[in-house]
Formats: sequence, structure tokens, C-alpha cells
Amino acid sequence: MLNLKSYKSSSLNGSVKVPGDKSISHRSIILGGLAVGETIVNDLLESEDVLHTMAAMREFGVIVKKLDGQKWSIYGRGIGGFDEPKNALYLGNSGTGVRLLLGLAAGIPTNTFFIGDNSLSKRPMRRVTVPLEAMGARFINRSGGCLPMVCSGPKHLLPIRYKLPVASAQVKSAILLAALGAAGNTTILEPEPTRDHTEIMLKQFGAQINTVPFEKNGREIAIIGQPELTATKISVPSDPSSAAFPAVAALITKDSNIRLTNVCANSLRFGLFEILIKMGANITVNYCNNTGGEKIANLEVRSSSLRGVTVPAEIAPRMIDEYPILAIAAAFAEGTTVMLGLKELRVKESDRLSAVAKGLSASGVEVKETADSLTVYGKGGSVKGGALIEANMDHRIAMAFLVMGMASEKPIEIDDAATIQTSFPNFYELMLNMGCKLTKPSSVQKG
Ligand code: S3P
Repeated sequence: MLNLKSYKSSSLNGSVKVPGDKSISHRSIILGGLAVGETIVNDLLESEDVLHTMAAMREFGVIVKKLDGQKWSIYGRGIGGFDEPKNALYLGNSGTGVRLLLGLAAGIPTNTFFIGDNSLSKRPMRRVTVPLEAMGARFINRSGGCLPMVCSGPKHLLPIRYKLPVASAQVKSAILLAALGAAGNTTILEPEPTRDHTEIMLKQFGAQINTVPFEKNGREIAIIGQPELTATKISVPSDPSSAAFPAVAALITKDSNIRLTNVCANSLRFGLFEILIKMGANITVNYCNNTGGEKIANLEVRSSSLRGVTVPAEIAPRMIDEYPILAIAAAFAEGTTVMLGLKELRVKESDRLSAVAKGLSASGVEVKETADSLTVYGKGGSVKGGALIEANMDHRIAMAFLVMGMASEKPIEIDDAATIQTSFPNFYELMLNMGCKLTKPSSVQKG
């Protein structure tokens, strides 16, 4: 258990580079493992989630080695060259890790066992097993389609044409990874576009993948199976979902001025910054050169007076992980913020919709929660705080409420912030260096 507490801070300053993007880091290890030869990954996120994916790839026989700094070498086995894992793959807290690897395992004609922590073991997996079953894989799982689960890959996986019933990059990526092992053309129809890091990186590894428009806003993604992927070099940009925490902290803390460098500015990840700018946030986005097909930007963020806005459902896939921290910004804004289309928040690392509503009410902020929306009645700068927040094994709930404590009247305490290690290992030190007041009142071993 790691108990953390945040207090009203004076001003936040400095230029910081938050750790590497989690989505891109997972994909670089998985695709590096599927390629032939040595892939070098720079600025890999060395967080628990990514380290679990790495351990899983080693079980398949992939050689993953740390070089200097955050530079890693991955010796791929090529598509079809994987060993049968001797141990169950433990993916910890990571939905991305397990769902992407289920896609990979579907293409291996053997049995692969998957387990996770208490939070991951409650999360829905049918969204991936249904399309993978249509391709010929078989699964045995706990009731409700949850982990623990075993995946049996067939000898010959079939290509499919599949329309995504939920806007999910994890489901899309699982199918794309399975499709690499299927002879023929697999097509995914995505009515609402979701993060496209898998498509971008597959191109970089030499796969034949083609995206065209589908319906009003969507995409049709076609991939030709059984390619030879060629090892490459990848530079992982900083994670915009992590940058969101110091950014909102600076917006709501007086006299702050911070710079966030080398942030992944893929438009399918940038919804939060667009909404914050609509709320009156003083954020300047300076685009730099692209890295491996991903847009990069440096962000200048200054303290701002925010106003409430309506956040339409259509933007949800482009900022799905950022609602907890947006809700904190909304609590400090003048006026009402209405966030729509939030059904997916109920099945994240925790039920984030209810966790955010509960935490805000306990901190003196009025909210209205429905099945798929959240309304926050902003306090116009002065939030009471003073609550003890249950993080429920959810890193983003822990970080969002710690940010709230940095600008509220009374401190905010998080019962167990240990899961921050899953995505942002140096959160505590980085925030402290910028001027945030954070303490570890007690740090006790689990057991
Ligand atoms: C991710 C996709 C999103 C996001 C998760 C990372 C990815 O999940 O919430 O943190 O890397 O593909 P969904 O695909 O369930 O929306």
C-alpha cells in the first residue's frame, strides 16, 4: 500500500519530459517481437504495465534486453516463430497488455494462459474473444468472459471482415495482431476512429495496411496477412495521457508556467487539450518534427481561469483516459461542464465514472452522474477538498485526485497510490520538482 497526500501548492514551474507513451511502448515490444531481426526502442516507458508485456514476450521466446538509458533491444522471432509459453502470462493491471496479447496468441497454434490482478480480472474480454473466435481461436474463461483465461490458437487462422461494436483501439489492435497470422485480407470497420498507433507502427515494420474513410467519421482498415515484418528503430514520444496531469495541475495552480516537451500529439489522443483550450486554458501547442509517423509537440501551459463546457460524446474515443483529470479541471472552472458518452468509463481499471463522482462530492463539488454522463458544477476556483479517496487499483483516479489536492483548500489523501507505477513511475518526483506539495504519510508493505 502506498498512501499519498497532496496539499495546496504555490506555483508550478519548469520544463519537464513525462515518460514514454504507454500505448506505443506496448506495441513496440509486441511488433518488435513479431519482426525478424533486432528492433531498437528509445525512450520506452519502463512502467509495470509495459514490463509485464515484456515478460510475456520473453515467455514466447523473444529476447528483450535493456541497453543504456531507456533504450531497449528486441530480437524478434518472426510471425509463426513463437514458442509455447511455459508459464501463465501475468499482465498485472494492464487491459492493453492482455487484449493485444490475446490477439497475438490467437495466431499461435498452442495454448496460452492469461492471468491478471484483481482489477484486470473484472474487466470484459468478450469484446476481443468474439472476433478472435470468428477467426478460429478458442477460449476458456471464467464466467462473465473474464480472466483467468486460456487461448487456443488454431493451425490456420481465418481472415475476417469485422465491424467494431465498441470504439476500442485494444479490440482493433487485437484483431490486427491476429490478422498477421491469417492467410488473406482482414478488414476492420471502425465507425468511430480510435488511436491508430498499431496501424502507424505496422506500416513502419513494413506490413501492408491500408486505411480509407468509412461512414460519417469512421475508418476501414485492411491488412494483408502473413507478411514478413522487418526490424526497425522506434523513438517513443511522451505520453499525452500522463502529460495531462502536470498540465491540469499548472492550469489550476496560481502563477504557474510549465513546458511539457516531446509529447505525442496524435490527434486521436489529443481531445483533452482541445477541450481545455475551449474552456479557456492558456495552452500553446508547438508542433515539432514527426517521429515514426506520430505527431510530436511541445506544450506551454500557464495558470488559467477556466469555464465549463459541454463535451460531446463523439470526442470520447480521442480522450477516453482523460475524463478523471478533465473532471478535476471542471471542478475549478466557472460554470457547468457536461461530459457525454462515458459508458466505457465504467469498465476501465475501475468504474471511473462512479469513482470521479464520489471523489468530487466528498471534496465539496456538486456532480450529477447518469449511466453514461457526468455533470460537474464548477466552483470557480475554490474547491474545498479534504477527502480520503479510494483509488480502487486505478492509477488515473489516484493521479487525478492528487492534482486536485494541489489547488484545493484542504489536502487530498489517496488510500493506495501504488498503481501509479503502472503508467507514470516518476509521477511523485516529477510533480515535486515542479513545485507540487506531495507527501507519503505512510508507506506500508502489502500483505
Ligand atoms: C488503449 C486503448 C484504450 C485506453 C487504454 C489504452 C490502447 O482502451 O483506454 O488506456 O493502448 O490501445 P480501449 O481500447 O478499451 O478504449
